[in-house]
Amino acid sequence: MSDVVLFETTETDTGATIALVTINRPDKLNALNRDVLTGLEMRLGEARDAGARCMIVTGAGKAFVAGADISAMQDMTPGEARDFSELGHRVGHAMEAQPYPIIAAINGFALGGGCELALACDFAYASTKAKLGQPETKLGVIPGFGGTQRLLRRVGVAMARELVYTGKMIGADEALRIGLVNEVHEPEALMPAVRNAAEMICANGPVSIDLAKKVILKGRDKALSDANRLEAAAFGRCFESPQQKEGMAAFLEKRPANFE
Ligand code: COA
Repeated sequence: MSDVVLFETTETDTGATIALVTINRPDKLNALNRDVLTGLEMRLGEARDAGARCMIVTGAGKAFVAGADISAMQDMTPGEARDFSELGHRVGHAMEAQPYPIIAAINGFALGGGCELALACDFAYASTKAKLGQPETKLGVIPGFGGTQRLLRRVGVAMARELVYTGKMIGADEALRIGLVNEVHEPEALMPAVRNAAEMICANGPVSIDLAKKVILKGRDKALSDANRLEAAAFGRCFESPQQKEGMAAFLEKRPANFE
């Protein structure tokens, strides 16, 4: 078991499982090396096996993740660097492929690979102490874990260019303004707010959440008419599930739906 990526599960009032993943190298501000990336990948599968309906990713100590591990990268050959980048991509894609949503709880620095990790999550909430950015060009490299691509899809091409070219750090309020994070909370209120969002997700139909996640992701880069075809197919698939019957019956019977 990986102690650089902690894993625990908690249950909601209705018995749904929420997975909490904590990147745990606080003395290195949770910098991402191979152990952390493979540990994170393993935790994704563990959460799926535990039937998690939502995952929260955060960092131990004062950072979310302060980037890919610079000391691990310093002497890489071009081939090793490419492999490392591809490992980061594999983890990001694995996060997107999970049937459960993943929420980033950005408690502090989310720089470089940390910002990219947050971008691979479904959405992010930040503490007022968070600092975000893609400082790789200060190190003579570019974002390598999907940053150039997911950042432009999240905040638009001009803002992505500015963040990548300048390498500047932005605070939580600026991150909120540009749509990099969805909400900002005082540090002690961050986890309760993220947990509340996770509980709201867990109260809803897991088949529909999974399908919505897939359609939003797959449709993003398609022409609207093609993307809407995906939506129609997934909408139809919802009606193969007993959860659609339960959700609609519950509404008409004026009672909470039970998707357990
Ligand atoms: N990779 C490896 N180690 C890192 C790291 C990273 N991305 N970010 C921080 N660390 C290490 C520091 O080297 C230091 O280790 P040490 O105590 O053995 O010297 C430790 O974490 C604490 O960091 P420190 O720089 O002392 O903390 P700080 O509060 O003064 O500064 C930052 C915080 C985030 C501003 C600063 O650590 C930083 O700029 N980190 C690099 C950010 C970056 O460029 N990320 C993109 C990488 S591609």
